[in-house]
Amino acid sequence: MVRDVVLLGSDILEKTSNPVEVSSDETRRLVEDLFDTLETCPGIGLAGPQIGVLKRVFVIKLDDGVRRAFVNPQITGTSPETVQYEEGCLSIPDVWCNVVRPVRVSVFAYDENGKPFNLDADGILARCIQHEYDHLEGRLFIDHTASEERERLVRRFEKKQLLRSKSRRGKRHGS
Ligand code: NI
Repeated sequence: MVRDVVLLGSDILEKTSNPVEVSSDETRRLVEDLFDTLETCPGIGLAGPQIGVLKRVFVIKLDDGVRRAFVNPQITGTSPETVQYEEGCLSIPDVWCNVVRPVRVSVFAYDENGKPFNLDADGILARCIQHEYDHLEGRLFIDHTASEERERLVRRFEKKQLLRSKSRRGKRHGS
């Protein structure tokens, strides 16, 4: 089921998510909802809190089309080398900024069927895993920036949201 994406300003995005029961119908449904919602969005990853569910689950679908679900994930290692890369977030549309993160990351998690796995990732997958994992800790990519830059990004988001709502109202009136 496609769910609404929670946007910046909601308390939910700042809260820590709770572990889920591995291999339960509820968890499988949550994974399905995350994938269904992600399919309708211009993004590559989505975490539970972003659809209003404070559970430790996120999904990733990159250009390779592989559906990757991470249930109760744990970051088990990160490389000392870091890299800067421009990130965006479905909860903060129209806002992009450079974030420095480790190049590689190791993660332990369960898939949607309760099967445990270890994954060593680099490149865009490593970047996405870290971004989505942050969501489970109530952290956003803009939280990695200095406070002045963060404020600037929040203002940009608010301005863009205002423009969006104006154009929606305009459309409703047929203009
Ligand atoms: Ni995000």
